[in-house]
Amino acid sequence: MPDFSDVSAGLQMPLAEAMQTQRAVRRLRPDPVDDETVLEVLRLATKAPTGGNMQGWEFMVIRDPGVKHQLARLNRQAWSIYRRFARRAARGNISQARILSAVQWQADHFEDAPVIIVCCLHGRVWPSTMGKASFFGSIFPAVQNLLLAARAIGLGAALTTLPLWSRTLVRRTLGLPHTLTACAVIPMGWPMGGGYGPTTRRPIEEILHLDHYGTRPYASE
Ligand SMILES: Cc1cc2nc3c(=O)[nH]c(=O)nc-3n(C[C@H](O)[C@H](O)[C@H](O)COP(=O)(O)O)c2cc1C
Repeated sequence: MPDFSDVSAGLQMPLAEAMQTQRAVRRLRPDPVDDETVLEVLRLATKAPTGGNMQGWEFMVIRDPGVKHQLARLNRQAWSIYRRFARRAARGNISQARILSAVQWQADHFEDAPVIIVCCLHGRVWPSTMGKASFFGSIFPAVQNLLLAARAIGLGAALTTLPLWSRTLVRRTLGLPHTLTACAVIPMGWPMGGGYGPTTRRPIEEILHLDHYGTRPYASE
């Protein structure tokens, strides 16, 4: 298995290339990922901004099979309900069906990922839009940094929130204090197949508005 010295050169990847090819990699090999690799990915994650530069984050590195199993159970519980809606919505759409099959694979093998990162935040979520935006906006830039760093070194990773459906069960599983909120769960490991590749997104012309909502100068009629 590669260790950090084998993959560190990947971090020189051009930024645009990393952004264009950072997609959810769910099919992971169970082979170990060394501590130095995990630490460097997390170090880069923490170069992200936070509201007021508070840096109220904590990152948990889960390697213990028992804890991974509990997170896997939580993920499967949420997925068993969510997949019914997802399957209905994906009917007739081949690319959505492909994603669902990868999500199913991930659900079946969640605990086999060699390492799972849980990104947490201290503090309270205030009910206003501003409160929610500045709370969760203080962790997801770090999550994206983590995903980009993982992409650059070829380490498979996928952002999940399904395992977080029960705050109480997550807190018990991870031994979190009441003041800490788990916001993202990211299984990581070396990809099973091709791994990363170009992402498919709505074209910018379709979603760009000039000055007022609805004024879309680049949209084709
Ligand atoms: C806030 C958020 C929550 C997500 N939660 C899950 C999840 O619980 N399980 C999962 O498999 N993927 C999850 N994803 C990943 C998306 O499904 C994925 O990014 C999307 O399908 C696009 O796929 P791609 O990045 O491979 O192109 C989440 C993504 C975001 C941004």
